[in-house]
Amino acid sequence: MFEKKLAENVISVGAKHWDRKFFDELIPLPDGTTYNSYIVRGTGKTALIDTVEPAVMDQLFDNLKKAGVVKIDYIIANHAEQDHSGSIPFVLKSYPGAKVVTNEKCASMLKDFMLVKDEDLIIIKEGETLELGGKTLEFCFTPWVHWPETMCTWLKEDSILFSCDFFGSHAATADLFKAEHFYRQAKRYYAEIMSPFRNNVRNNLVKLAKFEIKIIAPSHGYIHLKPEGILNAYKEWSAEEVKNEAVVAYISMHESTKKMAEYLREALIDRGIDVHFFNIQGADIGEIAMQLVDAATFVVGAPTVLAGLHPVAMNVVYTANALRPKTKFISMISSFSWGEKATDAVKAALTNFKAELLAPVVSKGYPKENEFRQLDRLADDIASKHRAIGILK
Ligand code: FEO
Repeated sequence: MFEKKLAENVISVGAKHWDRKFFDELIPLPDGTTYNSYIVRGTGKTALIDTVEPAVMDQLFDNLKKAGVVKIDYIIANHAEQDHSGSIPFVLKSYPGAKVVTNEKCASMLKDFMLVKDEDLIIIKEGETLELGGKTLEFCFTPWVHWPETMCTWLKEDSILFSCDFFGSHAATADLFKAEHFYRQAKRYYAEIMSPFRNNVRNNLVKLAKFEIKIIAPSHGYIHLKPEGILNAYKEWSAEEVKNEAVVAYISMHESTKKMAEYLREALIDRGIDVHFFNIQGADIGEIAMQLVDAATFVVGAPTVLAGLHPVAMNVVYTANALRPKTKFISMISSFSWGEKATDAVKAALTNFKAELLAPVVSKGYPKENEFRQLDRLADDIASKHRAIGILK
């Protein structure tokens, strides 16, 4: 089936990008992604909600054709990023007379990015409505999820929230309505896209509470017919509480750092802490990001090389810092040959973490008895900190 019905005269007409490997040439997409667009047909007017990435826009046009959409009056742009706005100029060309409806900030971006002209734009304000004839769209500004102009569109009569990136997941799937297993992919998406803006996520969740939502229809991945699942997940992920978990991510050149990382992993498990353990070499940064959503502690393991932090580890440290996770404690394990520089580099790089630094463990060459005792001390420190904030008995 090319289209899916959300309600009477409300259908999904977006595109699937099954084999897209990376988003922004940065974030791995193990399950591909989708760019969901929706047609809302009123008795007088028809609206298209968001468009798709231009690389797969043929699917959008095919779906519109199969659905018998011969006229589009309004293209609602909830977000200016090109995976949703990139096909707007082509829709405008194919459906003459259509107008792009969006907020002022988004309009300004669309003019810059997609060269949309003023005469093709209708600027709406917060809370404004647009009548299609038996279908009413209301615009709710939800800034910084994850750009300043992001907004949601509320379809009153059917209680559907079109949320664009908010509540999305990168998952190309045959059936967008099969959201039973949404949690992992949505969490990964949250980690990569929304995590730096969790204060804004919380504020926008409060703002959306005025709607009695029956369906959440994002512009990536699953459509949520039971919205409480994704709403509760967002409440949990964006809250400041952390879990009794530690992320240990290491890279090792000659087994020294690896041995220390493995020793620490077991010492933490012995003390009752859940460990997410990654060899940074070849690791999926999206998986590390996802585990940092809840973990109370983050430990980086990396040797000094080229007079600094191992560059492959730096990529993970830099990205983790940009995601601003709510981690409460950080530390480092490291080895060196003749000069130790890695720990200072990690400290200098994790500036966005509002976390307490626990004394690192550093070994000259392969770890010896002294270093193993220090790793025991670090595990004790972490356990004691987790106990102090009430997440470990
Ligand atoms: Fe899916 Fe921020 O674009």
